Amino acid sequence: MRVTFRIHRFNPELDRRSHWEEYRLPVWRGMTVLDGLIFLRNQQDGTLSFRYSCQSAICGSCAMEINGTDKLACRTPVRPELERHGQVQVGPMPNFPVIKDLVMDMSAFWGKVQQVTPWLSSSEPEGKTSSTQELPLPQGHGDFHNVDACIMCGACVAACTSLEVSSSFLGPAALAKADRFVSDPREPEEAKYQRLLELEKPDGIWDCTRCNYCVEVCPKDVKPMDAIIRLRRAAIERGLTASGGARHIIGFSDLIHREGRLNEALMPLKVVGFHPRGLMKVLALGFRMLLKGKVPNPLGHSLPGLANIRRIFRSFRSTLNS
Ligand code: SF4
Ligand code: SF4
Ligand code: FES
Repeated sequence: MRVTFRIHRFNPELDRRSHWEEYRLPVWRGMTVLDGLIFLRNQQDGTLSFRYSCQSAICGSCAMEINGTDKLACRTPVRPELERHGQVQVGPMPNFPVIKDLVMDMSAFWGKVQQVTPWLSSSEPEGKTSSTQELPLPQGHGDFHNVDACIMCGACVAACTSLEVSSSFLGPAALAKADRFVSDPREPEEAKYQRLLELEKPDGIWDCTRCNYCVEVCPKDVKPMDAIIRLRRAAIERGLTASGGARHIIGFSDLIHREGRLNEALMPLKVVGFHPRGLMKVLALGFRMLLKGKVPNPLGHSLPGLANIRRIFRSFRSTLNS
């Protein structure tokens, strides 16, 4: 049995633009996409460039786009890809600039991880450390919601819909890393507050659209979107509620608590508050909606059974406090 590998090729020294090349190679038992690439490079085309190291889903260096999904090549078997797609198409991951063939420029990715200060504030970054004292974790605090399983492969960043339109967004991997340190019991409370103060700024936690793609592609079940939601909750709990995102959540739950439903006519006011510039924008939009008959009645009725809804709120709050 043979398989076609369709591979993205780009050599900046020779090519003005990228192109695809097809190769035929044998399929063997247990063969992964990475095995196929190594075979191709050794047997057919020594100029093919790609990254890998551990071949065991540990180092994170072999992430690429395989038949349209961002995956680790070393843990993607060829046979199911072939059965599903009829071939194996391999390209660099989206949201990363390409250096050559399947090799991507990860410098922005690492820059963003660096930006969230991925070390405990009570220790110093590597290279500056003056102390070798260990900071053991208190008993029972060791899993960090599985965020520490991240292997920095970048698949979540490639799949992120928010990064696709805004390259300055910190992105799921860096934010998951930030959550790991906000969750760390050894991090002083003031340092956590300072971290959240940075993260609630534009391009931070409130820029995630909650599309869930980062969760779907992560090979290590890190669930970066859940980490971002934990950071949002931590920010609101510490009184960081000035951003549009926080105001949206608080306004939304206030309206549900008061009326049992989302009052869309009042929601924009809840989000922008009473700032003249924001209000001008909302009023202009409101006026256009009014002309098209799209403005709901701001004095709309409350839903029947409101007492039950408030009981849910009370029960949820008591769960949070217990
Ligand atoms: S859930 Fe948020 S962080 Fe994850 S991919 Fe979607 S926009 Fe990006
Ligand atoms: S969160 Fe998952 S997908 Fe994102 S870099 Fe870490 S291991 Fe890769
Ligand atoms: S080669 Fe290390 S994760 Fe694939």
